[in-house]
Amino acid sequence: MSRMEIPLLQTSAVLLLALLHLCAFTPAGSLSFSYPTFQDSVDEKDFVRSEYSRIYLKAIQVTPDVSNVGSIKNQAGRFLYKKPFKLWGKGKDGDRRVASFNSTFVLNITPKTNPGGEGLAFILTESPTLPDNSEGEWLGIVNAKSNGSAEAKIVAVEFDTRKSYSEDVDDNHVGLDVNSVYSIQQVSLLGYGVHLSSETNYTVRIEYDSQNIAVFVSQTNKTREGMKNTPVLVHTLDLSAYLSREVYVGFSASTSNNTQLNCILSWDFHSSHIDENSNLLWVWITVPVVVLLLVTGVYCYFFGTRQGAKQEVHPRIEDEIKTTSMAPTKFKLKELQRATGRFNPKNKLGKGGFGTVYKGLLGDKEIAVKRVSKDSHQGKQEFIAEVTTIGSLRHKNLVKLIGWCYESHELLIVYEFMPNGSLDRFVFRDESFGTEIGKPTLSWERRRSIIFGVAHALDYIHNGCEKRVLHRDIKASNIMLDSDFNARLGDFGLARTIQHSNLTHHSTNEIAGTPGYMAPETFLIGRATVETDVYAFGVLMLEVVCGRRPGNQNKQNNYNNSIVYCLWDLYSRGRILDAVDSRMDGDIDEADMACVLMLGLSCCHPNPHERPSMRTVLMVLTREADPPALPQERPAFVWPAMPPSFKDDTESDVAGG
Ligand SMILES: *[C@@H]1O[C@H](CO)[C@@H](O)[C@H](O)[C@H]1NC(C)=O
Ligand SMILES: *[C@@H]1O[C@H](CO)[C@@H](O)[C@H](O)[C@H]1NC(C)=O
Ligand SMILES: *[C@@H]1O[C@H](CO)[C@@H](O)[C@H](O)[C@H]1NC(C)=O
Ligand SMILES: *[C@@H]1O[C@H](CO)[C@@H](O)[C@H](O)[C@H]1NC(C)=O
Ligand SMILES: *[C@@H]1O[C@H](CO)[C@@H](O)[C@H](O)[C@H]1NC(C)=O
Repeated sequence: MSRMEIPLLQTSAVLLLALLHLCAFTPAGSLSFSYPTFQDSVDEKDFVRSEYSRIYLKAIQVTPDVSNVGSIKNQAGRFLYKKPFKLWGKGKDGDRRVASFNSTFVLNITPKTNPGGEGLAFILTESPTLPDNSEGEWLGIVNAKSNGSAEAKIVAVEFDTRKSYSEDVDDNHVGLDVNSVYSIQQVSLLGYGVHLSSETNYTVRIEYDSQNIAVFVSQTNKTREGMKNTPVLVHTLDLSAYLSREVYVGFSASTSNNTQLNCILSWDFHSSHIDENSNLLWVWITVPVVVLLLVTGVYCYFFGTRQGAKQEVHPRIEDEIKTTSMAPTKFKLKELQRATGRFNPKNKLGKGGFGTVYKGLLGDKEIAVKRVSKDSHQGKQEFIAEVTTIGSLRHKNLVKLIGWCYESHELLIVYEFMPNGSLDRFVFRDESFGTEIGKPTLSWERRRSIIFGVAHALDYIHNGCEKRVLHRDIKASNIMLDSDFNARLGDFGLARTIQHSNLTHHSTNEIAGTPGYMAPETFLIGRATVETDVYAFGVLMLEVVCGRRPGNQNKQNNYNNSIVYCLWDLYSRGRILDAVDSRMDGDIDEADMACVLMLGLSCCHPNPHERPSMRTVLMVLTREADPPALPQERPAFVWPAMPPSFKDDTESDVAGG
């Protein structure tokens, strides 16, 4: 043992020093401030700003105003709150915690040339320093050198008033920029009646719930009423993947030969607090424990049975899974490593929200193994949700869970293998898997039976099993196809069980799901309901018949070009069948297709109370009932939604039981 003592002591000392060193910093916490207006020169002390940015005429002048430099051409500026805030950190359990935040500001852009230029951005960044040569097209966000580089460490919501690149949708758009001026998502504001560069006051609200960023824009009213309830842009984004733990928040803007005044008239910001372990008490408890563990670890390694070190199954995970009624088989890591050729990339079947799926061979049985990614900070929670929900469900239209494994920090879920993969491989015509030529497609009969199968599965989880389950992430890539092309609903990583079957919603503040499949009220009520599942199913029905993606996903989309809007438009012009995928072979029953499309639209009714239950959907699909009546025009999204004046008694009984 004496030989071991010296390195051990050294390690402990280094650890202790490192921990004490960490504590010497006073880390940034949450941040909250509100400026209903700005006082000239008085409020400037609260901000860090680039040379010519300042507060003038009761507004932040992000780029120089006419009063203080010779020219307002080709200028850039940054104006940030003086204290950074804690964006992310490690929680008590060692998992990454990401803060949420909200910010509301009023912007006013006054053009000084015709047209004006270039734009304004809300930014989160590690460095308050304005990059050199970031005027013009760069919006003070990055410059030619840092554009596109992970080193830039900046995320921006741009309000672009120039079409500087062919990639820009127009000269009046909102975009989400990550380390680049090229937006990962952008939305034209034309359809929202917003003209950024028009000397009008616009109220902007940016919400981040630690997973999704949503941007709302509306004309400023004195009463503040009329703030749009529907975001113009929503994107799922893990900010902790791109930004430092502590970031500054503020604005940047620029002009070119085209000029404008980029002003902020009021601004508030609130971020949530992250519970972190950074006080001394924690150190005094942790250091002895770490040292003790080290000693035990070393001891076990040299003298122990070696078994002690390997048994590191997380007791909480084990318990949570065991307490569910039908806990599936628990596998050994070794067995699954052997089955998948040590997770050989050659066996990779696909990558989902929370991990990678590999093909494996267990004896002579083909299996699919999902390896939950270690850096998904929600990994454990998704893992438990998935194993406990599908683990206790049995239905021919659900992917069958065979077992699970939690060992050496690996979270693995074993399913039966689905030879035909996921539905998205077959229905979308816009994307090529390998070569476009010879890309497989599905007949109408198959598509209809897939829709029917998914409806069956959803009716079962909503109404047919002991505890009501909400799937919360219904989309084409989560529908698997077995060897006979029967649909199997899978990926229950976001699913939630509702203990009391008479409750219809799952209460949580997290917004989960996939943009394009999320019902409009999701962002307002911030929780999943039976009706939000029905909405996503409606979108799925439409895409299966039309062979196109739901829209409003990553690219230059907004709600107005989503599949739902497009179908309403065709429907009100009496041309709903124009949307049908032309690649369908085999028998085509147009009346039946129209019926399925109308059923899809009624599932996507903006008012959740008007959507049919899955029980009703099934009855329409089996032709026991007519599709619910649709209004001639797309109904507006109104919130709060009005419950219908009367509800069919039999239906509410069925849905409630
Ligand atoms: C952001 O706003 C939502 C609702 O508007 C609220 O529930 C949430 O607590 C706010 N978050 C922060 C960090 O203030
Ligand atoms: C900026 O970066 C993006 C990558 O984010 C790249 O596609 C684009 O070409 C760059 N633009 C310029 C002008 O360098
Ligand atoms: C914009 O808001 C400011 C401050 O509330 C107000 O003084 C100004 O008149 C508004 N401008 C317009 C065009 O409404
Ligand atoms: C309030 O805002 C709404 C929509 O943003 C707009 O239609 C309306 O004209 C505004 N009212 C006033 C008094 O500015
Ligand atoms: C801006 O104006 C200057 C002087 O008129 C001219 O030389 C330059 O090419 C212009 N720049 C752009 C990008 O149009």
